[in-house]
Amino acid sequence: MSVAVVGAGNLGGAIAAGLLDAGAVAAADLRLVTAHADTAAVLAARLGAPAGTDVAAAVAGAEVVLLGVKPAGVAGVLPEVAGALAPGTVVVGLAAGVRLAALAAGLPAGTPVVRVMTNTPVRIRAATSILAAADATPAPAVARVRALFDALGTTHVLDEDLIDAATAVAGSGPAYLFLLVEALRDAGAALGLDPATALAMATTTMEGAARLLAGGAEDPVALRAAVTSPAGTTAAAIGVLEEAGLRDAVLGALRAAVARAEELGG
Ligand SMILES: NC(=O)c1ccc[n+]([C@@H]2O[C@H](COP(=O)([O-])OP(=O)(O)OC[C@H]3O[C@@H](n4cnc5c(N)ncnc54)[C@H](OP(=O)(O)O)[C@@H]3O)[C@@H](O)[C@H]2O)c1
Repeated sequence: MSVAVVGAGNLGGAIAAGLLDAGAVAAADLRLVTAHADTAAVLAARLGAPAGTDVAAAVAGAEVVLLGVKPAGVAGVLPEVAGALAPGTVVVGLAAGVRLAALAAGLPAGTPVVRVMTNTPVRIRAATSILAAADATPAPAVARVRALFDALGTTHVLDEDLIDAATAVAGSGPAYLFLLVEALRDAGAALGLDPATALAMATTTMEGAARLLAGGAEDPVALRAAVTSPAGTTAAAIGVLEEAGLRDAVLGALRAAVARAEELGG
């Protein structure tokens, strides 16, 4: 499959690297575009794939175009993309908040459009990606995009109306978990542990807990109960977190992320 990444920065570059690693796209079939020639040169050397600054040259002949520019940059690149699209090429918006209708409005009538929100574990092909397609986008075009993101981790297909909520859970989600690990490191250090040891312990604990969850045999409530003896140490700690309003804080955080996605989309 030939894929152009217009805006191969942190996210677009990680997607490109993952697709190459997975063997989902051959280097010769990948075209990477950045705004600056020097970043393109670094990328080409790092990934061994063609990279440059010419949007039209990259888009011409691509079967899938991934738009990896910042949300505010999407409207600026659409005319160049539109001018070079081959019929049937699928255009995929990766930007938070930029709606399918806004993408379609900047592209030739009938262009298949899809939105994908993914997250930074895409770097290690452990992404959680959420895909929403316009009603008019044919199923084979959606399947083409889904195949790319399935190669990079787990994909969920949702209605576009839910994509901001999914962004709040999964797109931004790694940051919440990193914050929790940071807090565990700092609290462990406050209790006398060496910070590096506390960080290592928090990291492997998160990894082990995630693997238990991913095993799918038990839900998080059952897994938590299994660690929480009545009146034990975990019960004492969980009681403090509940009393501090952890659940309300998480709901408030997700609502703030959704509101921000709506603002970014304009
Ligand atoms: N980072 C994440 O975890 C994450 C997660 C989910 C979604 N997203 C979405 O991904 C998008 C990009 O985020 P990012 O963190 O990857 O940003 P980034 O690192 O700044 O990447 C943006 C890329 O776009 C390039 N670019 C800017 N204007 C361009 C133009 N006119 N033509 C071609 N390329 C252009 C930049 O080139 P130069 O490097 O040469 O300036 C850069 O390579 C955002 O819309 C964001 O909502 C990001």
